[in-house]
Amino acid sequence: MRTTHWLGILFGVCLILTSCSGEKTTSRATTPQDPQIEEILAGMTIEQKVGQMTQINIDVISVGEIYNLEEPHRLDSIKLDSAIKHYFVGSILNVGGHTYTREHWQELITQIQTKATEEGNHIPVIYGIDAIHGVNYTVDGTLFPQQIGQAATWNPELVQKAASITAYECRASGIPWNFSPVLDLGRQPLWSRFFETYGEDVHLARSMTRAVINGYQGEPGDPVKVAACMKHFLGYSMPLSGKDRTPAWIPERQLREYFLPTFQEAIDQGALTVMINSGEVNGIPVHADPDILTKLLRHELGFKGIALTDWEDIIKLYRDHKVAKDMREAVKIAIDAGIDMSMTPNDYTFNEALIDLVKSGEISEERLNESCRRILWVKKQMGLFDHPIPDFDDYPLFASQAHRDAARLTAEESLTLLKNDDQVLPLDSGVSVLVCGPSANSLNVLNGAWTHTWQGRDEQYNTGDALTIVEAIRKHHVSGTVDYAAGSTIYQPVDLPELMEKADRADVIVVCLGEEPSTEKPGDIDALELPIVQRDLLRYLAAKDKPIVAFCAFNRPLIMNDFEVFVDAIVYGYLPGDQGGEAFAKCIFGEINPSGKLPFTYPRYPASLVPYDHKYTETLDIHFGREAFNPQWEFGFGLSYSTFEYSDLRLDRTVYGVQDTIHVMVDLANASDIRGKEVVQVYITDEVARITPSVKRLRGFTKVDLAGGEKTSIEIDVPVRELAFVDVDNKWVVEPGVFTVHVDTLQIPLEVK
Ligand code: BGC
Repeated sequence: MRTTHWLGILFGVCLILTSCSGEKTTSRATTPQDPQIEEILAGMTIEQKVGQMTQINIDVISVGEIYNLEEPHRLDSIKLDSAIKHYFVGSILNVGGHTYTREHWQELITQIQTKATEEGNHIPVIYGIDAIHGVNYTVDGTLFPQQIGQAATWNPELVQKAASITAYECRASGIPWNFSPVLDLGRQPLWSRFFETYGEDVHLARSMTRAVINGYQGEPGDPVKVAACMKHFLGYSMPLSGKDRTPAWIPERQLREYFLPTFQEAIDQGALTVMINSGEVNGIPVHADPDILTKLLRHELGFKGIALTDWEDIIKLYRDHKVAKDMREAVKIAIDAGIDMSMTPNDYTFNEALIDLVKSGEISEERLNESCRRILWVKKQMGLFDHPIPDFDDYPLFASQAHRDAARLTAEESLTLLKNDDQVLPLDSGVSVLVCGPSANSLNVLNGAWTHTWQGRDEQYNTGDALTIVEAIRKHHVSGTVDYAAGSTIYQPVDLPELMEKADRADVIVVCLGEEPSTEKPGDIDALELPIVQRDLLRYLAAKDKPIVAFCAFNRPLIMNDFEVFVDAIVYGYLPGDQGGEAFAKCIFGEINPSGKLPFTYPRYPASLVPYDHKYTETLDIHFGREAFNPQWEFGFGLSYSTFEYSDLRLDRTVYGVQDTIHVMVDLANASDIRGKEVVQVYITDEVARITPSVKRLRGFTKVDLAGGEKTSIEIDVPVRELAFVDVDNKWVVEPGVFTVHVDTLQIPLEVK
């Protein structure tokens, strides 16, 4: 029997409801109030307010054509004048193709801010950038693993550190706004941006969300922090076809239970800005949906900051989505839905249409005020009114060894050992190693997209001192020999006879597989298999009958079922960034012990893409007894050079109330003589529920470091409210009944009354 309904239980706000109605009963404040901002607003014209709501691409104010700037890059003073003095633009961004030195950033930001604060309406511009896995558009910036690799560390401390270093290096480049993190859940492995997510699980992604927002943002005015931009609100990561920006059909129950909690977590942590999903959910482009952008985001979640469109998304309302007949109508729809700022980004049609709509009375000036308040408030939080131009000499740690070390440590902890037959790893010190494959000598394949350029394929800005895998193996394999032959690029064979000849001479073959860097539409795929040339490469090498170690740098889990048998060890690298080569070399020679765990279910077959927290009907075909859930590797899986043994799983009680906390205890021993880190994962099964329960859900975890032979007792708290699900009325509920706690292969029941 259901006795209590909970609204926003995972959201930290617990309200006991007496009704099951889907209507919102209270509304939270959504516009910041600040006397200084009111004073500025009072002196602004309609044109100036619309300008604040506009974000342009730097190409618009540069010498040359959009997407084809003259080199060396310079700002065009006439275009800059027009942007600042005629259109009063509030924000500028840049994407791929513009990687600058810090000195160049200093020049750009100084020119822009001087013009904005001394002329125009004297309001500083807020510059935004995609520093997705480190400050990737500044030469020598520190590059971390992509988000999926950061999630694989299961170590929020490392994620927070990565974010705070990224914030520091953004600020060192004069940039106070980062279009990161991606808080879309990675539950669709076909999707080209899978690697930008924290994986498939709500609990893990929420833990990483807390860490990343705290790493990016600090106290108002902190010169080493940036405004985070949680993206892409809401439901972007689950296109039905798997192709980027194609329709998602997500029932409200699933939207709330899976896709909303990370955003709520970020808002609770004070995230200052949000970017909107370019696609459509349930037939409505999100940029046109007031239920998502106002009712949910503002009134229910209480978000106070800036809602920014994604690239050209107001234009797309009429050009691509066909929900508006022209730009004017598209602007009206988006502003009515709740957009504050338009990533326009290449023309001023948004400004012209919005000014006209206000002057004709179709949109009120008060509506502009609302958005401007939020924009000016974020600028104030970032300290831009006091320091529009940072003191560029104040950032001595930019690209420092300390920052590189943090990136390497994150890459090391992300590496996930998926297979290690006969303990082939770590390798013996004297062996002769052949290194081959498309990711063996490429920083680009290790870094993936959003690295120096949008798609990350241009090599000209690669970090000078970062080592590729083969370079790192040479550095770390001091007492054995290292040979290299490419064998193949991503799609083409390269001098196979040379490879075969070198393979004959080697004791061990290290094959570095890879996927071409890509994201968004250019990353759409039609098959989840590794390109055939790389599978062939493995087949040829397998014929040599030598131990083979595979390293994988993939944008998403490419199917390994057909070649996994040919290799003895697999180190899954995700996209580990500049320091990934060194991390992998240390791993195979035993200088570090791998401790990453999969943040997603690794599929065995391309037509069986089922996450770990699926329903019972997806596990077992009850009519034919066939095991339907049969992944290559489970969510949370990852081997170690140590052997961990779990025992004595216990709880502090057997019966709990909905307000209680379950105190889970288990003993863990490192039964080997090798120091290692283990991720203790607590899963809980709701045995019977009105909405069909998942077979299990991750409800807690911790990463522990144990010396060889060491034993410890682990304690993990799980508040009972974390066992909630979204009920028939689309509200959170903890349903009393029997639950089972699982840790490793141990399990224990409990009851909620
Ligand atoms: C992407 C966003 C990104 C924006 C600006 C868009 O195409 O979807 O994630 O922040 O471009 O580069």
